[in-house]
Amino acid sequence: MIKFELRKTPSNSLPAGLTVIGVPAESKGKGLAQAIDRELKRVKLEVKPWARHTVHISGGAKPIAARVSVLPKKAFSDIAEIDGWRRLAGDAISSAKSLSLSEIQIPLHGVSANILPRAIQSIVEGASLAAYNFVRFKKKKAEPTKIRVTIGLSGAPSQTLKQALRAGVVIADAVSAARDMVNTPPSNLPPREVVRAAKKLKLTRRDSIKVYNRAALKKMGAGALLGVSAGSDEEPFMIHISVKARKRTKQSKTVTLIGKGVTFDSGGLSLKPGKGMEDMKCDMAGAAAVIYTAQALLALRNDINLQHDVHFIAPITENMVNGSATKPGDVLRTVSGKTIEVLNTDAEGRLILADALGYAEKKIKSDVIIDLATLTGACIVAIGDRYSGLFSDSEEQIKRLTNASITAGEKLWRLPIAADYRSQMDSDVADIKNIGNGGPGATIGALFLKDFVPKNTEWVHIDIAGPAFVTYGGDYHKRGATGVGVRTLLEYLQS
Ligand code: BES
Ligand code: ZN
Ligand code: ZN
Repeated sequence: MIKFELRKTPSNSLPAGLTVIGVPAESKGKGLAQAIDRELKRVKLEVKPWARHTVHISGGAKPIAARVSVLPKKAFSDIAEIDGWRRLAGDAISSAKSLSLSEIQIPLHGVSANILPRAIQSIVEGASLAAYNFVRFKKKKAEPTKIRVTIGLSGAPSQTLKQALRAGVVIADAVSAARDMVNTPPSNLPPREVVRAAKKLKLTRRDSIKVYNRAALKKMGAGALLGVSAGSDEEPFMIHISVKARKRTKQSKTVTLIGKGVTFDSGGLSLKPGKGMEDMKCDMAGAAAVIYTAQALLALRNDINLQHDVHFIAPITENMVNGSATKPGDVLRTVSGKTIEVLNTDAEGRLILADALGYAEKKIKSDVIIDLATLTGACIVAIGDRYSGLFSDSEEQIKRLTNASITAGEKLWRLPIAADYRSQMDSDVADIKNIGNGGPGATIGALFLKDFVPKNTEWVHIDIAGPAFVTYGGDYHKRGATGVGVRTLLEYLQS
């Protein structure tokens, strides 16, 4: 548990951005600032932006450890640098833990008023995310991190700044919940467990949740989702959550967010190799992202004065093998009526998304549809696990999402939806095949989905196969599930 506090502190005590760990509030003063200054000169801290160094200062009543960050000028005024505060706070938590200290002070004097709320929100997010641990399956649960973070201000904390702190807490909770869901072992998270989690959302009477079970999916004609689930003993579902705007305006839109929810992807009969198959518990990361974006949005709706009606759709299934499993060569009929020849049962994400898009077309008049999916290994080959692939024909949406992702500290990289490759998916027996013949796998995946996007809808596809589940750590990042997407979507929905 991290406790956060906003407090007016003397501006001359410490330079802004200096992260002081383990200093009792009363002991700050000129002397300390000078001591740190001397120590910094002695160690000749490299003046690379956002570089850090730990200084130990002895001589006082208590030895003091300070983690010093070199702030670029832009940190004080530029929203594009806001992730630096997230990283700084995450680093401070890790440093505090390794030094066994329980107090952190982050002075923000000098940060311009226009980005101060975002800096506070980022610090809260970064610190909370750095303290995340997945302990559900450990016999000996690690002691939860108990640290107090004081954010130093030049004035008394305003309502806006208090709201920013709260937003940080709400968003970090949502990201952590998404990480928990993705980290959960696949047999502990069959589709019905995802449904159970979604039903815990605190909706108001204006909002709604609908859950379609197997029988309802049959009635709906969701043959692609049912086809993917045919080899599984677990019932598939489609979840549809609707969250209303606080107040609609002329600029208000209806936004639909769709998340791929394959709770385990064995590949089906086109079985995946054994090595690394365990990572396929992450194949519902898109669904987790949209469900927990809904959770945070419900909590922040009034604070952010939500203008848009937002729909959240998650098709949920396992991709497994039994005697009833869909076979390569089978043809599935989707909600839209279009048919798909399945040539590789491991390209299942696009199948269930085709039905989610068809469902959205029937039930919602969306202005914008954004789907998040751990769709292709090819996307990881192309841009690795630090970037999600961003696909859209709408320059406007590309701009909005790119800006949102920079503020959110989640990187997106645009890839083409090149129509040149569409003919690779022409089928002799159905309307489309679910794979091409090699080549740009991430683009082929996007092109496939495009066939199912409702007319007159701006559409964005985000391939999160890389960033959903990672092997790197540091700052506020940790090995395993990342909850990618939640922060970007929330940022986007505020614009
Ligand atoms: N879930 C996988 C994609 C994936 C790979 C996600 C690695 C996260 C990490 C997806 O269902 C899949 O298997 N895609 C195939 C598509 C191919 C058969 C056209 C792939 O990427 O190999
Ligand atoms: Zn697959
Ligand atoms: Zn998959």
